[in-house]
Amino acid sequence: MRVLSGIQPTGRFHWGNYFGAIHQYIALQNNEQAFYFIADLHALTTVREPDKLREYVRDAAIDLLALGLDPAQATLFVQSDVPEVTELTWLLMTITQMHLLEKCHAYKDKKARGIAADAGLFTYPVLMAADIILYDSDLVPVGNDQIQHIEVTRDLGQRFNHLYDTEVFVLPNAHVLDQTAKVPGTDGEKMSKSYNNTIEIFLPEKQLKKKINSIKTDSLAVEDPKNPETCPVFALYKLFATPEQQEELAGRYRAGGMGYGEAKKLVLDAALEFFGPARERRARLEADSDYVQDVLRQGANTARQKGREVLDRARQASGLTRTPADGIDG
Ligand code: ADP
Ligand code: TRP
Repeated sequence: MRVLSGIQPTGRFHWGNYFGAIHQYIALQNNEQAFYFIADLHALTTVREPDKLREYVRDAAIDLLALGLDPAQATLFVQSDVPEVTELTWLLMTITQMHLLEKCHAYKDKKARGIAADAGLFTYPVLMAADIILYDSDLVPVGNDQIQHIEVTRDLGQRFNHLYDTEVFVLPNAHVLDQTAKVPGTDGEKMSKSYNNTIEIFLPEKQLKKKINSIKTDSLAVEDPKNPETCPVFALYKLFATPEQQEELAGRYRAGGMGYGEAKKLVLDAALEFFGPARERRARLEADSDYVQDVLRQGANTARQKGREVLDRARQASGLTRTPADGIDG
């Protein structure tokens, strides 16, 4: 059973990414064969500054390791380190019907908003299908918004198998992540890079404090009773606190006499404690880029070995021949 998932390096990871995705990926690394990759080819459709992209990829690797991704249990690699994925994308592209992509939401949403889309965005689900199929993945942990892409992947895999009358491709299933607790951002809306309301996991303490202090609240006075259920500060506190701690703070909200500033301070302390060990690990990893490079190199080797095997099966099935070349087939 192979678990595989990818995450785009389009900025630093925030609390929404952690609670909605990353910590759940990490939980799956123990009992399954797990492949996790940093989707830099996907990020190219939005990040157009090379230095930024390099930085985001490096930070993503360090962040994931610091947060508990264990290279002894899971294979961590960078998408573009396995060039076989782009070749498989082409093989899949040749059997992809336009209407399948036209209904995919990333493209459809952009078009609906009158924004010009490029072919990269339009064909993004095909690259994602190749990401999954290249490694014979069985189970793909993803958020709700990605289920459609897993369906496209199954469609394409099935169509290829059917057209070439083979069983070369394994059809994956989505493992839908629990995102019932949608993490709110500093403005109370869903936390997302696109809304500029994120709280990044590894912000230095001072900036973290500033971000938390910027969370929007209503204008009730200190002495007024407050409603914990509608308050983003309380919702964020819940991520870090035990049920007893949550109950205690909820009681103080309802009783009045406590200002939002105090609740924000509790969120800051709880976040620092919760991510404390990860912050320490991150500082050590930051100082050991050889180790991080090594993890990614080994990850790429493992992924590439599997990827070549599957791509070879696909090449054979579709009738591509391979003329042996001297010495450049590394
Ligand atoms: P962003 O919206 O900041 O660009 P991504 O789309 O890259 O984040 O999200 C990566 C993963 O994190 C996805 O699985 C996504 O569903 C999850 N995620 C992002 N924001 C949140 C949130 N506010 N609450 C729960 N999960 C989230
Ligand atoms: N499209 C996913 C996202 O934006 C990231 C991703 C790319 C992915 N390829 C994947 C996830 C393959 C799972 C499997 O969140």
